[in-house]
Amino acid sequence: MGPSSTLLLIAFLGWATGSSLHYSDGRSSRLSLEKTFGRSVKDSQCHHMLKHLHNGARITVQMPPNVEGHWVSTSCEVRPGPEFLTRSYRFYPNNTFQAHQFYYEDNHCTKPTYTLVIRGRLRLRQASWIIRGGTEAEYHLHRVQMVCHTATVAKELSQRLNHSCRGAVRGSWEPSVIYELWSEEGGYDCSRELNFAMHELQLLRVEKQYLHHNLDHLVEELFLGDIHTEPSQRLYYKPSSYQTALQNAKNHDHGCIACRIIYRSDEFHPPILPPRADLTVGLYGQWVSQRCEVRPEVLFLTRHFIFHDNNHTWEGHYYHYSDPVCKHPTFTIYARGRYSRGLHSTRVMGGTDFVFKVNHMRVTPMDLATTSLLNVFNGNECGAQGSWQVGVEQDVTITNGCVALGIRLPHTEYELFRMEQDAHGRYLLYNGQRPSDGTSPDRPEKRATSYQMPLVQCSSSSQPSDYSQGDDGDRPLLHHNDCTGWHRGSQKHVTVALVAFVVSALLFWQS
Ligand SMILES: *[C@@H]1O[C@H](CO)[C@@H](O)[C@H](O)[C@H]1NC(C)=O
Ligand SMILES: *[C@@H]1O[C@H](CO)[C@@H](O)[C@H](O)[C@H]1NC(C)=O
Ligand SMILES: *[C@@H]1O[C@H](CO)[C@@H](O)[C@H](O)[C@H]1NC(C)=O
Repeated sequence: MGPSSTLLLIAFLGWATGSSLHYSDGRSSRLSLEKTFGRSVKDSQCHHMLKHLHNGARITVQMPPNVEGHWVSTSCEVRPGPEFLTRSYRFYPNNTFQAHQFYYEDNHCTKPTYTLVIRGRLRLRQASWIIRGGTEAEYHLHRVQMVCHTATVAKELSQRLNHSCRGAVRGSWEPSVIYELWSEEGGYDCSRELNFAMHELQLLRVEKQYLHHNLDHLVEELFLGDIHTEPSQRLYYKPSSYQTALQNAKNHDHGCIACRIIYRSDEFHPPILPPRADLTVGLYGQWVSQRCEVRPEVLFLTRHFIFHDNNHTWEGHYYHYSDPVCKHPTFTIYARGRYSRGLHSTRVMGGTDFVFKVNHMRVTPMDLATTSLLNVFNGNECGAQGSWQVGVEQDVTITNGCVALGIRLPHTEYELFRMEQDAHGRYLLYNGQRPSDGTSPDRPEKRATSYQMPLVQCSSSSQPSDYSQGDDGDRPLLHHNDCTGWHRGSQKHVTVALVAFVVSALLFWQS
């Protein structure tokens, strides 16, 4: 089976199960999730949170999306490179846009270096076939301008651009002066030197949700296309997942201080976010996804990680779905292994290096399509040949993983982590973005320079370690909100992420 037919098959399955223009998380998701976890869904706060993600979060998706308005970053963002930035994008009723990208030298966005002001036109196209729930769009640039915020940066950038796009630089640059980098009329193009492209506008999604079940508190989020993890590929990459969402300045989370600062800024007054200390990353306790996550190549999933810092082992549960609100389970992976902590990253300010090993894995197909696909594989390459059944878990450790899913064991990944506290004081764990080419970071050079969506801490205890063993749904709950009792002083925290074996998985079908 070729890779393209697999992609089609999966896209089709996804499409067929819910092409309604407007869907929201309703009761049916509860059923499917309980099917996924069985009785043990009651086990802990973590399962409660994974369940709540589907159940309580009344997210609605606008199709086609209405992007009109002013959208801002909710925090200091990290792009591959790394680049630290905040964004402030305005979309007007006449289909034009004005985007501000504020760049910084530090990972807390306190020291602005330069700002790009990008103007152009956006045209929405059709619903995306590749990423269900997304909308494809085309953009056309009118002009790109730059303002530097310090004399040093102005000098450096004018020298750099003087080599590659002569014409843009006439005389050396001054701070706080606006310079043209590109325009429809002008002949020069400096985007290559800066690896600048607005391809993120080629994939959009708008989500609305009422926070805390409060009808007065609407939050609107705009997801734009992802940025290739290899900076030199950016100009050629068509997005296949999303970046961190922007929030509508009118309807944002009231706890978002960065939103307000960014909203009030312009190219001459770049946002300066409140300084914060880097939290020490300690892998400790349990962490779950905050939303249905999207991976490149059509994967939707939620994650649950458990770290045992006493013996440096970890366990991960990956729940895969066919749809963008994570209602229809396709398969589940349980993986475990060891990890070791490295030093502070020398490439990514604020990041810490880790190495993860996977040496044990179990797979549960959750729908007929995945079950048949697993059964199609010949040879001793993914559990017992031809024996897969819906909802029945198999250990694939003895077959060294599962070729059908692109997972070979033992497997090592070079990881990057960082920790933060959100506006509500909860601990967030970020791990490295998966390489956009679908490979895995199996060599130190391939270690990420940016992050995936964060996981949130759901328990500071790593017990129970393996809920698939215990049919103990009637046991009392673990302490709710263990998180609040978590001491920073103990320097024990958090998490992981491997997940995207599965991406290579899909690329692997052809073998
Ligand atoms: C579109 O609207 C914006 C904001 O009102 C305005 O600044 C801009 O000039 C308009 N562009 C065109 C091409 O009409
Ligand atoms: C740009 O390059 C030219 C030729 O190499 C040089 O004469 C000029 O001083 C440079 N300008 C700046 C601002 O670096
Ligand atoms: C590591 O520690 C956890 C919790 O104490 C335990 O459940 C697990 O079996 C241990 N793993 C190994 C490989 O020793």
